Amino acid sequence: MVEVGVSDIAIYVPPFYLSHEELAKARGVPKEKYIIGLGNQKMAVIPNWEDAVTMAANAAMQVLEKTGTDPEEIQQLVVSTESGVDHSKAVASFVQGLLKIGTRCRVYEVKHACYGGTAGLVDSIDRISRNGKTTRKGLVIMTDIAKYGFGNAGESTQGAGAVALLVEKNPRLCSVDTSLNGVFSKDVFDFWRPTGHRVPIVDGKFSIECYLMALEGAVSEFRSNLGLEQGKLLDYMDYIIYHMPFTNMARKAHRRLIEIEREGKDLETQEEIYNQTFSDKVAPGLMGVREVGNIYTGSVYMGLISLLENEREKTEGKRIGIFSYGSGCGAEFLLYNMQTKISDIIDSLHFKEQLDKRKEITFEQYTQFYSKSSEEVFYYPDEASSFKNRYTKFVFTGFKDHKRQYI
Ligand code: CAA
Repeated sequence: MVEVGVSDIAIYVPPFYLSHEELAKARGVPKEKYIIGLGNQKMAVIPNWEDAVTMAANAAMQVLEKTGTDPEEIQQLVVSTESGVDHSKAVASFVQGLLKIGTRCRVYEVKHACYGGTAGLVDSIDRISRNGKTTRKGLVIMTDIAKYGFGNAGESTQGAGAVALLVEKNPRLCSVDTSLNGVFSKDVFDFWRPTGHRVPIVDGKFSIECYLMALEGAVSEFRSNLGLEQGKLLDYMDYIIYHMPFTNMARKAHRRLIEIEREGKDLETQEEIYNQTFSDKVAPGLMGVREVGNIYTGSVYMGLISLLENEREKTEGKRIGIFSYGSGCGAEFLLYNMQTKISDIIDSLHFKEQLDKRKEITFEQYTQFYSKSSEEVFYYPDEASSFKNRYTKFVFTGFKDHKRQYI
């Protein structure tokens, strides 16, 4: 059977961040709550001249350029977001235009909170597996701006960013056998954003419960699809990346996995196994969430990029478990079988470099950026073009005849 999966991957993060120390000071909260309690250190802040479209195009452009892919070769373009810019026109269509992707391409947007990108990825892998002669390359992009509103409990988990993945046969990075995937979904109200609301409504503690319930369900089906007995899954996977709305959610998720996988062991033994497996299998993927915050759809894939940059060639030939969760709720557990000889892909990620290049902003600047919607801010193309750089190739310049303008 021909393998299908991900050939290359790239991330884009906005050029500004606010430190959690500053946020804590402004909110009158002990900084330890954010830094130790949630595990976060910095949150990405997106300026008004960027949006879900520009971040998606900026991530995808890196993939096209570094793989030498002609945009005309892309026959499936999926963009997943819960930060859409139009009720009808897909973010994917804006991206198609910016990247100059041809007309013989299936282009669509997916929404299922943070899970949507995984649904688009699985669909793209399956489509290329089935119709490999007519669809050879797919581009799947996850792009989001997590905003909860000033003073909301979720504010300290905000972030923004986009991840793009190139899907094809004989993938250079990792293959995915989607028949093994474990899925879970249920109609719940844990986090939602009614039409017209600028920020979501969140039942924070309940959302964590829903996440853990979905993890249990997806893991159980995945293990059974693999034909493994309960207790054997932990050793089967070399690394695990959980959806990370905040850093310590990965700790809560991993603890739950240990409880399931080591059921019957005394608490002390479970704690030992948790500590060791967390530092070996989970911690190498945490850099992104700690530095950027929640990027919703792209969160788990930012974890993959963090892992690759930290562990480098150690990931070659390894099995990586991926848990994707979206509120509402839908979840899927997948296995990435890593290829060998991936050094050049890792070298081209430049994630740490992007993080280092960012500028720290003050709490007042953050408040200015986030108190206006993009509809209220207009830039002149000349002014906006000065915001471009090596990673920021596309910027938003305002509206003309109700049409969003990008350069
Ligand atoms: N020093 C050290 N730790 C401290 C502390 C201090 N001074 N003060 C508090 N803490 C700890 C708490 O003990 C707690 O840790 P545990 O969870 O391990 O007990 C942690 O800091 C957070 O404290 P609280 O629970 O009191 O924080 P909160 O009430 O402000 O809410 C939250 C936390 C529910 C995560 C909130 O940030 C939120 O609503 N976030 C958005 C929703 C979310 O991320 N849900 C996750 C699952 S849903 C999902 O995954 C989809 C998605 O992307 C949104």
